[in-house]
Amino acid sequence: MRVSCQDPCLICAEVQLSIRHKRVVGVLSGTFCGFWPNWPERKAMLVRKFVPSDLETLVSMYIGSFSEPPWYEVITREEAEKTFSGAMAYEESVILTGTDDDGNRPIGSAIMFAVSRRHDVVSLLSGEDREAAYLAEVFVHSDHRHSGVASRLIGEMMINAAAMGFRRFAVRTSVDQPIIRRIFGRLGFSEVAVDSVESMKLVGGAIRSVPDRRVIMCGDT
Ligand SMILES: CC(C)(COP(=O)(O)OP(=O)(O)OC[C@H]1O[C@@H](n2cnc3c(N)ncnc32)[C@H](O)[C@@H]1OP(=O)(O)O)[C@@H](O)C(=O)NCCC(=O)NCCS
Repeated sequence: MRVSCQDPCLICAEVQLSIRHKRVVGVLSGTFCGFWPNWPERKAMLVRKFVPSDLETLVSMYIGSFSEPPWYEVITREEAEKTFSGAMAYEESVILTGTDDDGNRPIGSAIMFAVSRRHDVVSLLSGEDREAAYLAEVFVHSDHRHSGVASRLIGEMMINAAAMGFRRFAVRTSVDQPIIRRIFGRLGFSEVAVDSVESMKLVGGAIRSVPDRRVIMCGDT
């Protein structure tokens, strides 16, 4: 299948294709510009700003997504809701919802705010990285994985960050989360720090505090 710029494409339709966008587009789905013209048929999707009516669906999706490997986390609805309400309290935060093609049904989400909001993360950074935008969350419903939804949410988040004046972008993920490491690796991000944390995980049917290692990656927006 040849994907062309006649496809609905937020970047091509609304923004001049620049070197920076090309670099972002390089990891995005075939929705954009035919950079990977031989990809299989993709599901249509839209990315838009989060609206309050997305919350219930996204909270369930968030809890489900982080109960999977490599996370095995046990997150209550209250904690999940706090993830969204906490981010909304920051004036610079951006929450994006990926939806099916009519824009109604959420299939994934991403949350970004200034890395300075996260003292545990910013304390491991130096120089300009301390002023970075921080991808706090990205998750996709298990029925919609491997279709470029996360890549597209990340690409659009980086465009938002650049438009807001952030020159650097940071993400923290598990050392055992290869998809996110690959997506950002392809964007030219470097691994700048590794952090050891304790997480509440469901292990052998019991909830335990388990040591976990996180990697922080930074790159240009
Ligand atoms: C990690 C996660 C967000 C990835 O979501 P996703 O939408 O499946 O990711 P993408 O589709 O953008 O990319 C995944 C892979 O599919 C490939 N892909 C993307 N679009 C494709 C398409 N149209 N056809 C075939 N493959 C495609 C990508 O190249 C990538 O391949 P890779 O595994 O070789 O790197 C998702 O697995 C998830 O929600 N996991 C649980 C929560 C989590 O770990 N979040 C990250 C916290 S830091």
